[in-house]
Amino acid sequence: MIIEFKDISKVYKKDWRALNDINLEIDKGEFAFLLGPTGAGKSTLLKIIYMDERPTTGEITVLNYSSKTIKGKDIPHLRRKVGVIFQDFKLLSDRNVFDNIAFSLEVTGAAKKYIKRKVLEVLTDLRLQHRRSQYPYQISGGEQQKVAIGRALVKEPFILLADEPTGNVDPEGSEEIIDLLKDINAKGTTILMATHNLDIVKSLPFRVISMEHGEIKGDEDGLRRKRSL
Ligand SMILES: Nc1ncnc2c1ncn2[C@@H]1O[C@H](COP(=O)(O)OP(=O)(O)O)[C@@H](O)[C@H]1O
Ligand SMILES: [Mg+2]
Repeated sequence: MIIEFKDISKVYKKDWRALNDINLEIDKGEFAFLLGPTGAGKSTLLKIIYMDERPTTGEITVLNYSSKTIKGKDIPHLRRKVGVIFQDFKLLSDRNVFDNIAFSLEVTGAAKKYIKRKVLEVLTDLRLQHRRSQYPYQISGGEQQKVAIGRALVKEPFILLADEPTGNVDPEGSEEIIDLLKDINAKGTTILMATHNLDIVKSLPFRVISMEHGEIKGDEDGLRRKRSL
């Protein structure tokens, strides 16, 4: 098991309970959807995994890190192993595609030569070589999300968290993003993707964890779904 939530609750601002008593296990190599309407607590659940938010009660374990014992200086190490992509891409607008992806390794202090090789490798995998010198505003939403995926991938993460990754992407681009995530998962990366889009979830034979009002209301495994598709 690569992620484990034990009796996790998250209360914002004194009394707003965004997560209520979450128990959840994600295995190494899984692809799981986190499905639920706006406000269900999906983003909060993901933030707890990359430790952007700390649980109010309970304990989360991610890889070998526990929310109870992790030190501030370990958080960058955790974030190297857990990639995150967002609905709004969060690219650096003053850097081109190549430099956006490179930045993610520059901050880890990697050697220049290694960074160049690794970024070119990722650009090739994403079929984005021809866009390497362009700026975010010059490329489509789907391409921007691919750059964001590239930025996560150069760090060779064990886990990739995707928070509504197709929310700002047209249908064609969305399909491409989902295909990419499938390929990344097939190569071994564990993926947890939050979405409120039932059509995407329905079309794929992966585990579906359903959330509502900060609670898990359903958890259907991928194999069973595969038989019913
Ligand atoms: N930083 C915050 N401060 C206060 N309330 C928050 C904060 N972040 C989220 N919430 C509230 O927590 C609930 C869950 O939000 P969120 O995790 O963003 O859900 P989702 O991603 O499923 O839309 C919502 O009611 C939201 O308004
Ligand atoms: Mg959200």
